Amino acid sequence: MALRNIVVEGDEILTKKCREVVKFDDRLAELIDDMIETMRDAEGVGIAAPQVGILRQVCVIEPEPGYVTELINPVIIEQEGEQEGYEGCLSVPGYIGCVKRPMKIKVRAQNRTGGLETFEFEGFDAVAASHEMDHLQGILYTSKATDVHKPAPPEEDGAEEANE
Ligand code: CO
Repeated sequence: MALRNIVVEGDEILTKKCREVVKFDDRLAELIDDMIETMRDAEGVGIAAPQVGILRQVCVIEPEPGYVTELINPVIIEQEGEQEGYEGCLSVPGYIGCVKRPMKIKVRAQNRTGGLETFEFEGFDAVAASHEMDHLQGILYTSKATDVHKPAPPEEDGAEEANE
């Protein structure tokens, strides 16, 4: 496993649509393992392949430590409700912004060996998954957000914003 460089806003790779994964091989497994390591190193709760310079439909989320979900070629097949909250992005370091997201989504995706799975995400998990899936379409949260700003330094008892 290896850390990969995180691409930041301004690089046009972040605005491109990712291609479908068709080969479920060791190279894909290595990419996913590297993405997880890179996300954790940067203290993020999610990361998408274009953020490490790869235009393929691969993203991972870890909304709670140890609970990683890997999504290959993910598609939202149902969504319900709405929520609004602040989020950040590893590719837009130092900023947060307020985004409207579905409260609940059902996602069909493949796993790292190509098997088809269905996931339901709700609340913060739905925010993380839809934020990462937007990256696969070349969409940064800043294009949907209001009130994008640099947050004040964290309080001592420090609720931290999530980085995706
Ligand atoms: Co992001």
